[in-house]
Amino acid sequence: MVTLLENPLRVGLQQQRIPEPNIIVFFGASGDLTKRKLVPALYKMKRERQLPPEITIVGVARREWSDDFFREQMREGIEEFSDGVGSDTVWNDFAQGLFYCPGDIDNPEGYQKLKARLEEIDQIRGTRGNRVFYLAVAPKFFPEAIRQLGAAGMLDDPRKTRLVIEKPFGRDLSSAQALNRVVTEVCKEEQVYRIDHYLGKETVQNLLIFRFANAIFEPLWNRQFIDHVQITVAETVGVEDRAGYYESSGALRDMVQNHLMQLFCLTAMEPPNSLDADSIRTEKVKVIQATHLADVQNLEYSAVRGQYKAGWMKGKQVPGYRDEPGVNPQSTTPTYVAMKLAIDNWRWQGVPFYLRTGKRLPKKVSEISIQFRDVPYLIFQSAAKQANANVLTLRMQPNEGIAMRFEVKMPGADLRSRSVEMDFSYGSSFGVTGGEAYDRLLLDCMMGDQTLFTRADEVEAAWRVVTPALSAWEAPTDPANIPQYEAGTWEPSAAEQMIDRDGRRWRRL
Ligand code: BG6
Repeated sequence: MVTLLENPLRVGLQQQRIPEPNIIVFFGASGDLTKRKLVPALYKMKRERQLPPEITIVGVARREWSDDFFREQMREGIEEFSDGVGSDTVWNDFAQGLFYCPGDIDNPEGYQKLKARLEEIDQIRGTRGNRVFYLAVAPKFFPEAIRQLGAAGMLDDPRKTRLVIEKPFGRDLSSAQALNRVVTEVCKEEQVYRIDHYLGKETVQNLLIFRFANAIFEPLWNRQFIDHVQITVAETVGVEDRAGYYESSGALRDMVQNHLMQLFCLTAMEPPNSLDADSIRTEKVKVIQATHLADVQNLEYSAVRGQYKAGWMKGKQVPGYRDEPGVNPQSTTPTYVAMKLAIDNWRWQGVPFYLRTGKRLPKKVSEISIQFRDVPYLIFQSAAKQANANVLTLRMQPNEGIAMRFEVKMPGADLRSRSVEMDFSYGSSFGVTGGEAYDRLLLDCMMGDQTLFTRADEVEAAWRVVTPALSAWEAPTDPANIPQYEAGTWEPSAAEQMIDRDGRRWRRL
């Protein structure tokens, strides 16, 4: 029997794969993402011999840097934000493939210069015209960069050129649609890689394996057995030095529409026909299309925002969001969002999915918890108070793993029960934990595998789900109306009330 996971044609979860020689062009090369995540991820792959020797990186940004200065900057990034360069031989080899080409996003001449430089580099490095253009720039520059790349003819060949677009993809449904139109004008969907780094995380990909390679869960994965689902992505960090971006984004755009929505889709989608990119993405789109805020008429019943105020984290006093550098002291930008989603389909009718995310919460933890129904009738009357419903928890990070909670008899003469957990941990089973996500995604992109990237219709469908909250929260409001929570504590009380109304509680993590 050929199964989904054994199918040799699978493209999504292949193991040892070496991509073709490529030039990866990073727009926004002087920015944080390139230095902290992208180049360190490529370097790690280089060290692990996952890349062909020809792999070349070209940084593009406005600053007038030289190749050598760019190399120094990238070395610093690898030292500071990953495991360090290690051997000088590997670094020297890698550094030979690093180049820098100054250019303005809106200046056509810069693109012509870039094009000529890439052709030259092809000759020196043997990269055969293969290109990945990675837009690691502020989202407002995406449309212009894409248009200019198109006008310079740099995306003409769909077999050899790819476009990677960082999140957030649009600010709302209409800007996402407009951006998709720009993309379609200059290239084909098969060239486009909309990144959501959550999809690159091992534990997130494991959701597919867990659900579709184990026979015992599928019969339970529905309204008959599941009471509700809670998806939490809690962060301890504040806005850091990103006020410029975050002020106009906030938790709904920054986390919910993309990262939490991906966790949601993978939990709620139907089994795909195969593991090829489009089968999986089609199932994801189908479930998002059936999803909506549970009560759009009474928004506070299904969407709550919050903002952190000053508090204590790990014994240190931290400022409130409005006192962070670069933040408007009257800001209404949410740093916390909780939502209750409903899915209109046979599998999930009546099963709420509660999502929450926030900055400056007490713990960094991302998890999906599947809360099963209570037993239909409890025969152990004396144990009634102790009997807890079963919970299956998929821990995305940290302490990556899966736990199942169930009831057991406590030793002794009485018939009393207690909850215990059966726990799988990536660390103890495989000696590794999740790791960074960008290496996997960059590799997939070079391999032409779109499974872990979001399709145009998927991004739009996700915007549609959050639109009622987005529109309501965009309306001018008195800053005093934004629910506050103290840094270092869990959600604002409005979020407690939202779930309380249903007779349920947020998990204490
Ligand atoms: C990014 C957001 O996409 O994800 C950040 O812009 C957030 O605000 C980050 O901190 C969280 O990612 P991770 O991998 O640390 O959970």
